[in-house]
Amino acid sequence: MGANMKSQILSLLRNSGEYISGQEICQRFGVSRTAVWKAVKQLKEEGYRIEAVQNKGYRLAESPDVLNEQELTNRMETEWAGRIVYYYDKTGSTNTDAKRLASEGAAHGTIVVADDQENGRGRRGRSWQSPAGSNVYFTIVLRPEFEPDKASMLTLVMAMSVAEAIRNYCGIEASIKWPNDIVIDKKKVCGILTEIEIALETNDIQYVVIGVGINTNQKEFPEDVREIAGSLVNAGGRKVSRAGMIQKVMERFEQNYESFVRIEDLSQMRQAYDTLLVNKDRQVKVLDPKGEYTGTAKGINEKGELLVQKEDGQIEAVYAGEVSVRGLYSYV
Ligand code: BTN
Repeated sequence: MGANMKSQILSLLRNSGEYISGQEICQRFGVSRTAVWKAVKQLKEEGYRIEAVQNKGYRLAESPDVLNEQELTNRMETEWAGRIVYYYDKTGSTNTDAKRLASEGAAHGTIVVADDQENGRGRRGRSWQSPAGSNVYFTIVLRPEFEPDKASMLTLVMAMSVAEAIRNYCGIEASIKWPNDIVIDKKKVCGILTEIEIALETNDIQYVVIGVGINTNQKEFPEDVREIAGSLVNAGGRKVSRAGMIQKVMERFEQNYESFVRIEDLSQMRQAYDTLLVNKDRQVKVLDPKGEYTGTAKGINEKGELLVQKEDGQIEAVYAGEVSVRGLYSYV
């Protein structure tokens, strides 16, 4: 029984959601009843709950939180985003893996996914706690053709895609804390780390990798992050399929990326981004190395900078690379 047959049967059951007779499966794939039975048996061993009822056939009752290459490729419905998958049970950092693969020629849209990261990396040299078995850790390789100074906007494109995916897939009101943290009920559930490689001679982008960590089914957090870290399961009260989550993020990202590259700025996405922006019309503290100040966040401009209206009415465009923004009394 090839892995391919098994994954085709899985797709069929998943897409139908109803009972499908053994005979129909046999006919569709031109295999024997025993072959179908064997495939179903193997899927059950992997944790899928498949009901078999006489005269009705098979039905996929429950997909467990299976995360592996087959599960991911089997679900993916995009054209290029997430079509090629490297999956590791354990790795150092998917961003580091993605950079290596990209330098070896990995195609645009390739993703690296891990169940466990031993050296998960966060922004500003921080680490990203990445325990096994419960969260989403993945990185996508991109080969954009625009100028290097535009690449930082891709982080906002990804943030928007993750927030939209959480809303659509989990029905939870996820928002964005500018520029690219995803928050639910004032707690951070997702962080994004973008890294870029520029060709020395030509000054062109060689590749960009965007790493996404989503606290998904983790319920307890270590003390040092407990105050600000949240998860999808804590927010929604239900376990979430990690593969399903990655699939939905890829769907949203592919669409958003394409509308971004058409004009190479965020002017078309600005409105949608601002609707998701948790800071919008709220007081923020801008931690500018040249001096902190407070003001009201008004939304982003077409370059992805945060527009902050100071007390004297003047509007500053805050650039994410240098400056971070907090709520007046807390992280959001
Ligand atoms: C942040 O500091 O908010 C960014 C965190 C980014 C974490 C993700 S997890 C997958 C990918 N691999 C890494 O080592 N980091 C990113």
